[in-house]
Amino acid sequence: MKHLPIIALDFPSGSEALAFLDLFAGKPLFVKVGMELFYQEGPAIIETLKQKNCRIFLDLKLHDIPTTVQKAMNRLAALGVDLVNVHAAGGKRMMQAAVEGLESGTSAKQSRPNIIAVTQLTSTSEDIMKKEILIDRPLEETVLHYGQMAYESGLDGVVCSVHESKAIHEHISPSFLTVTPGIRLPNDQTDDQKRVATPAFAKEQGVSQIVVGRSITKAANPIAAYHQMIKEWERQPYENENC
Ligand code: C5P
Repeated sequence: MKHLPIIALDFPSGSEALAFLDLFAGKPLFVKVGMELFYQEGPAIIETLKQKNCRIFLDLKLHDIPTTVQKAMNRLAALGVDLVNVHAAGGKRMMQAAVEGLESGTSAKQSRPNIIAVTQLTSTSEDIMKKEILIDRPLEETVLHYGQMAYESGLDGVVCSVHESKAIHEHISPSFLTVTPGIRLPNDQTDDQKRVATPAFAKEQGVSQIVVGRSITKAANPIAAYHQMIKEWERQPYENENC
């Protein structure tokens, strides 16, 4: 199946998100609904997007005590989305509770949404980790440790940067999903992201799925930017390419 970049629908309202989707004239898309859009529109936006044949990553990054996360995941499962996530920093018991909640909330007619764990945000650098979060270990070691915890807790994969994807597949499991934001075309601005890469480099690193927001949604021509992302994914990367 052709790789579909996940488009981050980071819009302040449903009407703006739907106007953006109209540009694609009904093409099947994989979209990400984050906090901004979900908190504004609530679960109704998920139903609307499903009617438009979108696959949906509901990116709410749950991080709370295990019982709360379990109950929240039970409710999210009922929305019938394809992918949800938690912060691995919530620990193993919280991640196991998330899986239990998703399983209990999935009806017999549905399949359980995949669940992945955020390792370190792609806006976090090793310097921020050390000085602000007081994690005094190399970034890749932390990402691998969080990934291993997610794997042992029964999750399906992680959110990480492109730069850690290969190590995760080598050290944890080749089939563990790596979903990577921080994707930019070679001449794009990096904005607030710190660990960025191009789609070609992502593919070369064995990434399972790329997530792209502003490089498509804020592009002068979003359709052209979307196709450029796919073309970049499909081409051979330059050696050691990076943004
Ligand atoms: O606009 P940009 O491509 O930077 O958007 C990236 C998207 O991925 C945003 O919606 C952001 O919330 C999300 N994300 C991220 N880093 C993570 C997890 C999610 O940037 N670790």
